[in-house]
Amino acid sequence: MAMRKLLDRVEMAGALDRVGDPLRRGVRAVLPDRVRDALHGVWLGHPLHPAAVQLPVGAWMSAAVLDALPGTGKAATVLVGVGTATAVPAAVAGLTDWASLSRKQRRVGLVHAAANAIALGLYAGSLAARLTGNGRRGRWLAYAGLGTASLGAYVGGHLSFRQAAGVNQAEPFLRQIPEGWHDLCEHAELTEGKPMVARIGDVPVLVTRLGDGVTVMIERCGHHTGPLGDGELTRVGGADCVVCPWHGSTFRLADGVVVRGPAATDQPLLRTRVVDGRVQASLP
Ligand code: FES
Repeated sequence: MAMRKLLDRVEMAGALDRVGDPLRRGVRAVLPDRVRDALHGVWLGHPLHPAAVQLPVGAWMSAAVLDALPGTGKAATVLVGVGTATAVPAAVAGLTDWASLSRKQRRVGLVHAAANAIALGLYAGSLAARLTGNGRRGRWLAYAGLGTASLGAYVGGHLSFRQAAGVNQAEPFLRQIPEGWHDLCEHAELTEGKPMVARIGDVPVLVTRLGDGVTVMIERCGHHTGPLGDGELTRVGGADCVVCPWHGSTFRLADGVVVRGPAATDQPLLRTRVVDGRVQASLP
């Protein structure tokens, strides 16, 4: 309960913005768009950071077990080295995601990053101690690093599961759509390549005529629910795409595939059909 209250206070701690805001500007200025997309996990269709942290966490946890057993010092040193080396790209991916979060999420993310940076420093110290023959010191530094990384993981859990950072925000809209076909608009009112916004109950959808076909996608961006209906159209790789007006995530209209981040997941598309000149959609 104390931790929950503490994290609630972190969410409201405006003083953290004095560090967070310049850091965010720096991350966005330093990393080119293509590198940021790669680090967000656009190529993976899934955020990269949660997958990348498995390597250091697995190596460090395994080292902790070996450190408790006799005669396994060399193997534990290798694992501490592997964990320390792989934590660096995982941290860079996390930092990239962090820079596209909302303000309250960034405050909590800053604490998460600080705990993990301290853990990384402790593990680097542990590795140095082990390589210079001070195994006992190396073990204690590693245990301190594991404890600090666990604290960072707890804060990361708050960020993901309480604040929904990195979650596909378009998915809950799908769950609001009842089974069956839903009438949207006249096929004749659609102009080629000019999406229009229609509604299925409370759920806004983006209806686009592409050649003889029609696509219908959830209109709220999977990143932070930006209104794709207000987005500009562009072409990427010869395909018509819509650009989210909030942070620039770009989705192919034909199949919803994300081609530019910060969103890392595809935008959900509905099934469509045209009956008596009316466009209808249903759950995929
Ligand atoms: S809401 Fe952030 S890119 Fe769409």
